[in-house]
Amino acid sequence: MAIETVGIVGAGQMGNGIAHVFALAGYEVLLNDVSAEGLTKAIAIIDKNIERQVSRGKVSAEDKAAAMARIKTTMTLADLGQTDLVIEAATEKETVKQQIFDALLPHLKPTTILTSNTSSISITRLASRTDRPEKFMGFHFMNPVPVMQLVELIRGIATDVETYETLLAVVGKLGKTAASAEDFPAFIVNRILMPMINEAVYTLYEGVGSVKSIDESMKLGANHPMGPLELADFIGLDTCLAIMNVLHEGLADTKYRPCPLLTKYVEAGWLGRKTGRGFYDYRGETPVPTR
Ligand code: CAA
Repeated sequence: MAIETVGIVGAGQMGNGIAHVFALAGYEVLLNDVSAEGLTKAIAIIDKNIERQVSRGKVSAEDKAAAMARIKTTMTLADLGQTDLVIEAATEKETVKQQIFDALLPHLKPTTILTSNTSSISITRLASRTDRPEKFMGFHFMNPVPVMQLVELIRGIATDVETYETLLAVVGKLGKTAASAEDFPAFIVNRILMPMINEAVYTLYEGVGSVKSIDESMKLGANHPMGPLELADFIGLDTCLAIMNVLHEGLADTKYRPCPLLTKYVEAGWLGRKTGRGFYDYRGETPVPTR
């Protein structure tokens, strides 16, 4: 099936990155959010991030202008009904995603492929509550979307071959690489990454190392581009906790028990970079460890 128009629900960190890469790849993009301010901010971020690629000679000024012109915004979910592909990239909360699908479904044309950028929630369960489980898939991008090469493709139990092959072709057109994951809690990347981040928080909680020594150890000792606590702040501590809870509940194994210190940071509203404070305090010129 040919995909030309793409609707994206949620203009946050993931949604604006997804809009960025689809527009640069030639797709018409309709970006939706409940907040007008969120949409304005998203367009400014996309502009800044594509400009960064222009200044490094990776994208031409003409291609940037064409990409920006391909992105339209709307606060009306129903406007996404006529697009060929919808990518839901809202908060990692099942109730929120469910409300979005419920509101969107009556407006969708029958051929539209419906996807979720969820990082951990069951695709089969989300799909079962729609009118098109065979045209529903997990379409999981990594952050920062314009830079990260991988996209996870997750088929629910009912997803048909045509839907999967269509999305595989879309990933190719984006210039990215697809990895197919079975529909089990947190799929591949987060099944491996989040327990590592959670273990880094336990290492801090038990006093084995400080924020600085833990991050430096993994950067210099394992060649990770970011330390695990810096990466947790980058992803968002609420998202990390939500994924650990999905692993813990979905696989019923105590090895996925979220660290109480991670829970405490989330309870404090210290969610990482997006709130100005997490394992580091970002409110000054340079990030300062909070422990
Ligand atoms: N848009 C466009 N380009 C961007 C960008 C953005 N948002 N952010 C960074 N870049 C580009 C920079 O322009 C730069 O380009 P060049 O190579 O052409 O110079 C390149 O990316 C590297 O950026 P910087 O030099 O600014 O910084 P850096 O070298 O420290 O790299 C990073 C930044 C790419 C984020 C790197 O630190 C990194 O790879 N970190 C790990 C990220 C990661 O693990 N992401 C996955 C998170 S898990 C996930 O997303 C799944 C989930 O469900 C939670």
